[in-house]
Amino acid sequence: MLSFATISLFFALYSLFAYGDGISFSRTVTKIANDSALNLTFTKPAKSCKSTDAYGSNDCTFQWGDNITGSVSGKLGHDLDKGSKFTVDLKVDKIIKWSFTCAVCGANCTTTIPVIDEKITIALPDCPIKAVELTEELFNATLPLTSPTKGVKVTATGPITIFDALGATVLAITLDITVQ
Ligand SMILES: *[C@@H]1O[C@H](CO)[C@@H](O)[C@H](O)[C@H]1NC(C)=O
Ligand SMILES: *[C@@H]1O[C@H](CO)[C@@H](O)[C@H](O)[C@H]1NC(C)=O
Ligand SMILES: *[C@@H]1O[C@H](CO)[C@@H](O)[C@H](O)[C@H]1NC(C)=O
Ligand SMILES: *[C@@H]1O[C@H](CO)[C@@H](O)[C@H](O)[C@H]1NC(C)=O
Ligand SMILES: *[C@@H]1O[C@H](CO)[C@@H](O)[C@H](O)[C@H]1NC(C)=O
Repeated sequence: MLSFATISLFFALYSLFAYGDGISFSRTVTKIANDSALNLTFTKPAKSCKSTDAYGSNDCTFQWGDNITGSVSGKLGHDLDKGSKFTVDLKVDKIIKWSFTCAVCGANCTTTIPVIDEKITIALPDCPIKAVELTEELFNATLPLTSPTKGVKVTATGPITIFDALGATVLAITLDITVQ
């Protein structure tokens, strides 16, 4: 399920950045496959997000300890077979490069978070990830209470792109995240 994988990745990245007094992010969907769709909407806490577009909530700010509720729906129009991959190309604090490429399925993804120099492994599903239409699915999550960067402001900006096995872009999102 692409949406699930995407959301897992999103939350994995999101939890990586869970290191301050709160977290803000904006995202721009720069490309999505013509057979696919995504809608990630946050409903609680109320007024956490300032805008919405075809892909759901945007310009969101959450405080540490917030209980977040939302919904996700989407469509992956074709299978993601072995050979599908995603690239992360972030700049941390505007200058520190954090780039890596991993398989979308059938392997674990290992990367080292710059600045704190911590190695993490993201477990990915088996291949293929089958084409699927995901009708609205509710989720909730609680942000950590404490701030590993002790309130130091950290930013991360840049694109995350998912490619199918033929190299066609399935989804390209540019993120702008601030953690404090
Ligand atoms: C959708 O994209 C595929 C692959 O990129 C292309 O072959 C196809 O013609 C496109 N279909 C439409 C309706 O634009
Ligand atoms: C996205 O999902 C939310 C929650 O179900 C819904 O209110 C909103 O209309 C959807 N947005 C689009 C563009 O379909
Ligand atoms: C989140 O939920 C927990 C458990 O229900 C509650 O103790 C806590 O006060 C909630 N946090 C916020 C910010 O509402
Ligand atoms: C991914 O890591 C887990 C836990 O270390 C391991 O059990 C699993 O076999 C790994 N998967 C692959 C495809 O290497
Ligand atoms: C939130 O999570 C809890 C615990 O997993 C679950 O019992 C509850 O139904 C969930 N609420 C929503 C709105 O999904």
